[in-house]
Amino acid sequence: MKSSCIVLGIHDGHNAGAALVKDGNVLAAISEERLNNIKNFSGPPLLAIKKVFEISNIEPQNVNLIAIGCLVRVGPPYADVNWLGRIQVQIAPYLHSHFFAKSYVKLLHLFRETKSLKELFFDLGISDIPIIFIEHHKTHAAAFYQRPWKEEALILTLDGSGDGLSATVSIGKKHKITRVAETTFYDSLSNNIYSEITGFLGMKRWEHEYKVMGLAPYGKDDGLIEEFKKIIRVNPQKPLEFQNIFDAYLYEVTKKLAPILVGRRFDNIAWATQKYFEDLLIQWVKNAISYTGIHNIVCSGGSFLNVKANKAIRELPLVNKVFFYPAADDGGTPVGTALEGYVKICKEKNIKPNILPIKDLYYGQSFSNDEIKEILIKTKWKKKAKLVMLDLEAKIAQLLVKGKIVGRFAGRDEWGPRALGNRSILADPRDLRVINKLNFAIKQRDFWMPFAASILEEDANDYLVNSQPARYMIDAFDTKEKASEIIAGLHPFDKSCRPQTVNADNYSFYKILKEFKKLTGVSAVLNTSFNIHGYPIVGSPKLALTTFANSGLDALIMENWLVEK
Ligand SMILES: [Fe+2]
Repeated sequence: MKSSCIVLGIHDGHNAGAALVKDGNVLAAISEERLNNIKNFSGPPLLAIKKVFEISNIEPQNVNLIAIGCLVRVGPPYADVNWLGRIQVQIAPYLHSHFFAKSYVKLLHLFRETKSLKELFFDLGISDIPIIFIEHHKTHAAAFYQRPWKEEALILTLDGSGDGLSATVSIGKKHKITRVAETTFYDSLSNNIYSEITGFLGMKRWEHEYKVMGLAPYGKDDGLIEEFKKIIRVNPQKPLEFQNIFDAYLYEVTKKLAPILVGRRFDNIAWATQKYFEDLLIQWVKNAISYTGIHNIVCSGGSFLNVKANKAIRELPLVNKVFFYPAADDGGTPVGTALEGYVKICKEKNIKPNILPIKDLYYGQSFSNDEIKEILIKTKWKKKAKLVMLDLEAKIAQLLVKGKIVGRFAGRDEWGPRALGNRSILADPRDLRVINKLNFAIKQRDFWMPFAASILEEDANDYLVNSQPARYMIDAFDTKEKASEIIAGLHPFDKSCRPQTVNADNYSFYKILKEFKKLTGVSAVLNTSFNIHGYPIVGSPKLALTTFANSGLDALIMENWLVEK
């Protein structure tokens, strides 16, 4: 008997994954890439769907609703561009309108691919469970339900594009989200400026925008912004929408823009890209606040992974509270999709939804000491491993102080793109030389890119200007003078920080920081994701061991097992 309400949320496009929500609580969520080791995997998340049932110990037959995100599957704009995609780019300037965007989404929805998903539902015995599709920007906007306050909110979504749109403005009250404005795909601020420039600079669109953001502080104004103004703006007639005024979309933008970009310094291009992006974003946010009169904002969509832009929003005097959904990109949409499905069921049954504010993001799978032991034996690492049941955290802190680079694989996977201690590589942040060591050992990061820091929440104010809890590395802060003691965890040029403030909720990780402070007086460690460059964050102990073996990591801690080379 189904006495509770269980919803399976699925995203089968770019950054696919699945989530399981029971009575409004997120029981489990995991991205397919953590299971198949293909970064940003796009396609049916067949492994993730099975895994969320396994993690939460729920029988698939108990599901009440299957909610699939996106009316039309979202794919990266360049990979797999088929004939339909090319036609869309070519005709977009001529047929550009909300009507066109809506019509083609409606049309393509009729041909939406679900064959492999339906085969899996059959195998799981859930082929008779109702299926609904949730429009893409609604799956982002659902972050509203997990906001850390009760009052109403202004909800902003912004991404490259999804289901014909690239930005929306909504008002959220109780459990009702009312959209008041939307920007079409053609008018996409992120696709037409940020992603195209990312591609022009030789990096991957829809993946390496963060590298442009990291590069931006090194550059300066060389007049490029005047050229960007000819491409896109906030619509003067419709101030809650962006407007493409360039008569070109996606790669056609770059074609037209290339003569202006060629010959300019790459750091100046990055500076102008970030600055113009922030300028338009801030204008849009101000317009939305002024239109709605609401000063508490929820932001979601891949463009809000831009922590510098988020900082600019947070620092606006007009903004009271702001919640950046940590899994802001499409990888986070299975949770939003499932929550939207749950709210729909509640409305139909006239039940008040019960969704708790976000608490943490540890929604993935975990492994016991016994399971890890078995893997250590199978992989022949057991001889180099020891079980540390006492003072494990002190031992890790000692290793860090000795300059060792330590991989930590413990507890449940983090949801979203950031490693928040459980699938992290940790290092001593006091000495810049650790950056070279890390890059040589494993990360191979571009020379201009910063690393981040996990900071004891109670001491964050010592390091961060206008400090506040920032637990998900989705926001940036300027830093105080004392932050020079965690120099390797700051942006090397502007000394800003994208922190994770750590409290006792993740007790073992918190304790590592406390032990490190005991030894050094410093309240932070350098924290970077546990992966080899170009691969997803490690999803299994076996993969953690393979990564350990093929990198310069000095030690690996998996639950209570400590492996040293
Ligand atoms: Fe999106």
